[in-house]
Amino acid sequence: MIGRSQQDLIKAVLTQAHFSRVKKMLHDYSGIFLAEGKEALVKARLLKRLRRLGLYDFDDYFDYIESDKSGVEFLSLVDVLTTNKTSFFRESQHFDYINDVVMPTINDREVAWWSAGCSSGEEPYTLAMNYLQYKKGRGNLRILATDISSLVLQRAKEGIYSAEHVRDIPDAWLKKYFTRIGVNPEAWQVDDRIASMIKFGRLNLQESWPMKGPFNIIMCRNVMIYFNRDTQQKLIKRFYDLLEPGGHLFLGHSETISGPNPGFVSVRPAAYQKK
Ligand SMILES: C[S@@+](CC[C@H](N)C(=O)[O-])C[C@H]1O[C@@H](n2cnc3c(N)ncnc32)[C@H](O)[C@@H]1O
Repeated sequence: MIGRSQQDLIKAVLTQAHFSRVKKMLHDYSGIFLAEGKEALVKARLLKRLRRLGLYDFDDYFDYIESDKSGVEFLSLVDVLTTNKTSFFRESQHFDYINDVVMPTINDREVAWWSAGCSSGEEPYTLAMNYLQYKKGRGNLRILATDISSLVLQRAKEGIYSAEHVRDIPDAWLKKYFTRIGVNPEAWQVDDRIASMIKFGRLNLQESWPMKGPFNIIMCRNVMIYFNRDTQQKLIKRFYDLLEPGGHLFLGHSETISGPNPGFVSVRPAAYQKK
């Protein structure tokens, strides 16, 4: 049976004014654009915060955010509203392209790659495994992996994944780069060898970036899809400036460079090279 407080929570109404307010707050801060029609999704996600805080009404929730001068609750709101879907070897043609085209140009040179919008870590860990396989365990790669959400970054740093999560990793690689730490339920943890190649950090792509580059690869896949065109174009230019000449930018498969192109050449679907 549902308890009294739970029933009150279910009755909480997210008005159009509430939705517009969330939409503006999220967009101003992160660039994420919430389309009309996402009201039910936003309500379901925000209810998690109301439940956690013991609040039963969205007006009270917004008052709470405003009174929280630490900004912690605002970041929790951003956390619940980001979409963090990811997987190992997602859009695997990009990793094949890296093996076929990028790796032969690197040799033993020290390189830096950036996974921008890395979610829970599957993308940068895939990059690290792929590199080590190619280089037969040696090499000189540093990977920066950033996201706006502290929640997913915490999971990424722990590097612990369920059987469901690791199902796209070839068995031999799983045994080589992970340690089985749980049987029932099955759980696997990334080994130090690949974890030590990656530096995770919180970074909002809309703010200033502390790193100077240059990067040999920037992957920003399935992130810009949530931004409007103007925000996307500004980001593309900033990525261009941080890449070394000949460096590559990888976007998600439904994302492209639209509008002014700072000088990228399209080399594969959603893969671009700085000339
Ligand atoms: C759908 S996931 C994509 C993960 C991975 N790149 C992939 O393709 O599998 C999108 C990620 O972008 C992050 N994100 C959204 N807006 C961001 C911003 N302004 N700055 C940094 N990260 C952002 C989200 O928190 C989320 O983890």
